[in-house]
Amino acid sequence: MSAMLTRASRFALVSKPFSQTLRFKSVWSGVQAGPPDAILGVTEAFKRDTDPRKINLGVGAYRDEAGLPYVLPSVLEADKRIANMNLDKEYLPITGHSNYQKLAATFAYGADSKPLKENRIATTQSISGTGSLRISGEFLARHYPYNKEVYLPTPSWGNHRPIFQNSGLQVKQYTYYDKETVGLNLEGMLRDLKNAPSRSIVLLHACAHNPTGVDPTQEQWKQISDVVKEKEMFPLFDMAYQGFASGDPDRDAFAVRYFVEQGHQIALCQSFAKNMGLYGERCGLFSLVTANEDEAKRVESQLKITIRPMYSNPPVHGARIAELVLSDPQLYAQWLKEVKGMADRINNMRRTLKTLLYEKHGSKHNWEHITNQIGMFAFLGVTPEQVNKLVNEHHVYLTQDGRISVAGITDHNVGHLAASLHDVTSN
Ligand SMILES: Cc1ncc(COP(=O)(O)O)c(C=O)c1O
Repeated sequence: MSAMLTRASRFALVSKPFSQTLRFKSVWSGVQAGPPDAILGVTEAFKRDTDPRKINLGVGAYRDEAGLPYVLPSVLEADKRIANMNLDKEYLPITGHSNYQKLAATFAYGADSKPLKENRIATTQSISGTGSLRISGEFLARHYPYNKEVYLPTPSWGNHRPIFQNSGLQVKQYTYYDKETVGLNLEGMLRDLKNAPSRSIVLLHACAHNPTGVDPTQEQWKQISDVVKEKEMFPLFDMAYQGFASGDPDRDAFAVRYFVEQGHQIALCQSFAKNMGLYGERCGLFSLVTANEDEAKRVESQLKITIRPMYSNPPVHGARIAELVLSDPQLYAQWLKEVKGMADRINNMRRTLKTLLYEKHGSKHNWEHITNQIGMFAFLGVTPEQVNKLVNEHHVYLTQDGRISVAGITDHNVGHLAASLHDVTSN
């Protein structure tokens, strides 16, 4: 009997359609769930919260006074004009829209830039800042002839490490942030750079350092440039926030332009996600300063070979918008005002938050860093336990390292934020 059953059940198993037997062991059954993205995970938790007081200060995207996503009027106008042009949707070349590339490079390096005038900056459009960093990693892993170690500031934007690791570079770190002063540890930074092997790659946040909001002063940049030169390091600039830090794109480009003037052959990763609000359009630029026009052409040919198997060519729409905004004098002037408007609103919120903490709540804690820091983010200097309390008891969502996106603060929610911060830091 049991032998018969066994035979019957064996028959049933064998005769089951293939789709049903598959259920016993899926190809992907061994795949373990990974941790949620540190930043995007905050938004997911925020969405699940039903408390009306909840505030999302996790994601680095600008919000207007009403806490809503903001499409810049200059960008909206460019979008409308482009729609009326009835353009086709053909592929762009591998390195992207050529006029956009020129305009974006001029925006970063400045119209007076010597290597730009000498046609010795190799450029390619990129899939926003992240794509630009990824191209930099791939290109450096293949073609950088010296020490393939990239030094990142501690802390740095969370995506830097995986981007460079996935590109095949060794990731190292240098001191940057000082917990005690909630500011820059210049001495530690210069010491670490001096101790790094010569000709390593060093990643520098050009302005509005993410996550700390702590930038070197112009004098400090000069000292950093000297050490980078002395050690013959390769400076790789990440400039995701040009214009967002001070409201003035020229001022925010100081470090990049100073390094170029000093003769450094820099690499630069740009993004128009934040300053033009083109987040989802994925519009950026990667560029490398070379010795001469011929070298720039050779480098560009290798950039094409690097990019073609990754994504073939970049998206067209964002580049058209940025090209129009950067080239039309009236739209450009309007855009500069709008960038300044965003930077000013962020700085006002910094001041309001600090004032409420001191004056309304009588906080004895030192909050000066809220207004000393710059750009979209403030590093509060709170502990992981205090972060958990902010999230779980006050419905204030931020990343575990204590970083808040100041762009998410509004007149409407700043009161609740100040009260919550005071509560978790005063016991
Ligand atoms: C320091 C830094 N670099 C690069 C990026 C890349 O942004 P995107 O790919 O959206 O341009 C960001 C975004 O948050 C950033 O903070």
